[in-house]
Amino acid sequence: ILQPVLLSGGSGTRLWPLSREAYPKQFLPLVGDATMLQATWQRVAALTDAAPIVVAGEDHRFLVAEQLRQIGAPTPAILLEPVGRNTAPAIAAAALQAMANGEDPLLLVLPSDHVVRDEAAFQTAVRAAMPAAADGMLVTFGIVPTAAETGFGYIQAAPGDGVRPVVRFVEKPDAATAQAYLQAGGYYWNSGMFLLRASRYLDELQRFRPDIVATVRAAFAAASRDGDFIRLDKAAFAACPSDSIDYAVMEKTDAAGVLPVEIGWNDVGSWAALWEVSEQDTDGNAHHGDVIAIDSRNSYAYARRLVALVGVEDLVVVETDDAVLVARKDKVQQVKDVVARLKADA
Ligand code: GDD
Ligand code: MG
Repeated sequence: ILQPVLLSGGSGTRLWPLSREAYPKQFLPLVGDATMLQATWQRVAALTDAAPIVVAGEDHRFLVAEQLRQIGAPTPAILLEPVGRNTAPAIAAAALQAMANGEDPLLLVLPSDHVVRDEAAFQTAVRAAMPAAADGMLVTFGIVPTAAETGFGYIQAAPGDGVRPVVRFVEKPDAATAQAYLQAGGYYWNSGMFLLRASRYLDELQRFRPDIVATVRAAFAAASRDGDFIRLDKAAFAACPSDSIDYAVMEKTDAAGVLPVEIGWNDVGSWAALWEVSEQDTDGNAHHGDVIAIDSRNSYAYARRLVALVGVEDLVVVETDDAVLVARKDKVQQVKDVVARLKADA
């Protein structure tokens, strides 16, 4: 059995002012008409009849339930975190939920805020990875790197075809190290999607972070159920250390595998990334909403009202009901500093 797990805990601060704590990017239609969460479900629906397990923050429970209902997804189990403790605990909770009825399915763990342009290639890749995951491998999906990005995990793959053993997994290396990997070749970016047997993940996590497993087990055992919502026990989960699957398990395990894929993946981590994945006109402009571009190039505009660009290049303009962002496209990583400033001032 293939059990999809949708991680929906991020806050996407680099997509301010559109992405907000109360309404982060996974719940927004950033590319096309479906929200990122809905698009994530739509790309897995063809692979399985199982209803998704969604792991999300308490505050977002109605957004998750309503958005999945809108697209006719089978009623999900929605695991609610009283506080965010990053992905290692979130996936552990999902594994416990998946095993609650005595089964031990393959978990297809997916961030709910990524773009995958080639759905067929994605589905083919998941199917191709299933035998290795069934044999106990913790399978990652590798992306051919195009730059020395420091925001990704880097995976060195052993030579071969199909799912290849991982020689090394390095989460978020510094710029010099990333550059060296790029030059060496044979490295892939970790896409953040995983295929792993539920029990296998828990066993590996137990090996490296027994403290996380113990606290998540306690929080799950004391969870309260309310319809489709499963509320992890607040005190128990708050006591859980915060860590990502990448640091807690993938860097340390001997059982990691990587399947290199070409699926049109983008993690839409910034406005520049959104410009990249959006449809561009012949001048390289992309937009969402009502936008007129005159004598302008390589710019991105997001408009709720009418926005006009005249004679500008490499610009990002985002206009919402209560805030406007104007940024140079090569400086958009600093948008998160705006959010930090707003928080400090609040
Ligand atoms: N439910 C839940 N709870 N979800 C979470 C939590 C949490 O506490 N923390 C993060 N998530 C979700 C995010 O919403 C996102 O969809 C996914 O898990 C990954 O978290 P990020 O915070 O976006 O991770 P990252 O981008 O820094 O790094 C990961 O993704 C990269 C690819 O985009 C790593 O896996 C890297 O190795 C990878 O290259
Ligand atoms: Mg991310």
